[in-house]
Amino acid sequence: MPTPEFKRTLITAALPYANGPVHIGHLAGVYLPADIYVRYKRLKKEEVLFVCGSDEHGVPVTIRARKEGITVQEAVDKYDALIKKSFEGFGIGFDIYSRTSNQTHHETASAFFKKLYGEGKFLEQSNDQYYDEEAQQFLADRYIQGTCPNCGFESAYGDQCENCGSTLSPSELINPRSMLSGGRPVLKATKHWYLPLNEYETWLREWILEGHKEWKPNVYGQCKSWIEQGLQPRAVTRDLDWGVPVPVEGAEGKVLYVWFDAPIGYISATKDWAKRENKSWETWWKDSDTRLLHFIGKDNIVFHCIIFPTMLKAHGEYILPDNVPANEFLNLEGQKISTSRNWAVWLHEFLTDLPGREDALRYTLASCAPETKDNDFTWKEFQSRNNNELADIVGNFVNRALVLTHKYYEGKVPAAGELGDSENELISILKMAPGLVSENLENFRFRQALTEMMNVARAGNRYLAETEPWKRIKTDPGSVKTILNLSIQTCALLTRLMEPFLPFSAKKLQNMLPSFDVAWPNGSTADFIQSGSLLGTPEILFTKITDEEVATQLEKLEKSRLENALANYSAPPQKENIAFDDFGKMDIRVATITAAVSVPKTKKLLQLTLDTGIDTRTVVSGIAEYHKPEDIIGKQVLLLANLAPREIKGIQSQGMILMAQDADGKLVFVQPSEPVRSGSGVS
Ligand code: 2FM
Ligand code: ZN
Repeated sequence: MPTPEFKRTLITAALPYANGPVHIGHLAGVYLPADIYVRYKRLKKEEVLFVCGSDEHGVPVTIRARKEGITVQEAVDKYDALIKKSFEGFGIGFDIYSRTSNQTHHETASAFFKKLYGEGKFLEQSNDQYYDEEAQQFLADRYIQGTCPNCGFESAYGDQCENCGSTLSPSELINPRSMLSGGRPVLKATKHWYLPLNEYETWLREWILEGHKEWKPNVYGQCKSWIEQGLQPRAVTRDLDWGVPVPVEGAEGKVLYVWFDAPIGYISATKDWAKRENKSWETWWKDSDTRLLHFIGKDNIVFHCIIFPTMLKAHGEYILPDNVPANEFLNLEGQKISTSRNWAVWLHEFLTDLPGREDALRYTLASCAPETKDNDFTWKEFQSRNNNELADIVGNFVNRALVLTHKYYEGKVPAAGELGDSENELISILKMAPGLVSENLENFRFRQALTEMMNVARAGNRYLAETEPWKRIKTDPGSVKTILNLSIQTCALLTRLMEPFLPFSAKKLQNMLPSFDVAWPNGSTADFIQSGSLLGTPEILFTKITDEEVATQLEKLEKSRLENALANYSAPPQKENIAFDDFGKMDIRVATITAAVSVPKTKKLLQLTLDTGIDTRTVVSGIAEYHKPEDIIGKQVLLLANLAPREIKGIQSQGMILMAQDADGKLVFVQPSEPVRSGSGVS
């Protein structure tokens, strides 16, 4: 339900790191739901402010700059511009998109720290940390590499092993080395400031666990588990040369930890907006009439629900978030989205590859949004959602309503006459729909809200199918006026209900209709457009997505998968030495495949018939994923002929074909370089 106790809503969307482009996971989890919510609130004429910006500090941006051989400033400039443009391309309507490297932010974050420092709210502690004597600097965890104590991988990072996925601390690495100089780092004491979260535990318990039981279960559950594990002081400074300098004497070479300054970025962005618009920023941050909402992904929950609120509480002048509608993660074609493996649909690439399909992506992502659990995006689903739902339901309905009105009444909306049961049923759906969409949006149930919007288009389609105005025009022309009037009213309602989800298409549709001044219908009427008003020219709202378009995107992903497999390939280590006699015992010979069939009820197995020069025999081989039976007849292969026979799926397999395994796991034949007689020995 709406929240009458607040006068205005400040909506923040997680500041994306400016260390790379943004992908569909970011859009689905954070920016799209936030934008839908904001657009809806704007239609309702509520006072809202939507802020975001690039998160330009932290170690990841410095690593990206090193990789690209550019300065950190150049890297953040590049990605800030790319991200900003991507969001614009998808119609994400921020009131401001700022940056944490700007002056307002440096001043704001610095002043925030200073206030807490001045009031003795931090703990000061010295700890031993790895230091690179040659580069003369302390090393962030990501700048230390060494051997993983768990799996022996030699290039594990100080915070994580990317081979086995285990979380590490730098002191656990075997043979640590600095990624700056390559030398062995030494341990050295360094002083840092800590936010004593433990001192706020009682308050957090009360504020979240008692006071915010309405938060989404995934958010509430994560907070509960953090609090119940017991909170520890968290360092809010780092030894790094990129970021907001710690504004304290003796803290040279130290900056605020990125997770301390980034959320303050919401305040700085509001200040930048207020300055530009000549408005007050403080109304949005210091007035208890303001409702603060943070839209984020699940990996950000602890920072927005526990750490940032503790900072705000310690500061004392600011309001606290009223809700944090965090989402889970979106997978892509069944696999986790990964920047480093390039397993992603990058927004800037989508905009170039599939121009005009922004709403189709918004629609698909809202339909499969990871609201309560991780969810999957597939290109096939994208195609079917667009073709079967947007084009066949919304597009088809709107097109029929407009085209028929043009055909029968020269585009002038006819007056409705007497209403029958079908009309009353449709009208009641039209009247209820805004309330249903509202209620779901107010409760951050975006998927259900979208379904309620679509139900209006479905109802319109059903109504036309039932009443068949194209037939009645001859038998009962009076009733066609009513049918088309109501259909146009349905289109009008759709422009409003669609707007939060499909802003580009809603605008297109609005341009085909006469304007009307209801911003968000209150459910008391379904009569928006006056009879006699003139319609614009009907245009197709959604064109179908072809199989070729989908295939191109799938090929692109397949290419990433291959490149990644090759880049990460390391040849298997050599096996233990064996005696020559052992080798001599193996009967390896050239054989020719004379027949091949799939083994029933298996995906991987082929049954091969081989001419071995001494006999004709059967071998079962696990190569079906990579080779079709009809393609391999006549191929010469290497056979380990004297391997003891085995029964596989009820078939006696006599020997084994030797295959080479490519970096991506593909099995390829090992063959003589020119044809030889079947049975030729290999030595
Ligand atoms: O996870 C991220 O991408 C962070 N850059 C989010 C920061 S949100 C806020 F605190 F600024
Ligand atoms: Zn490991």
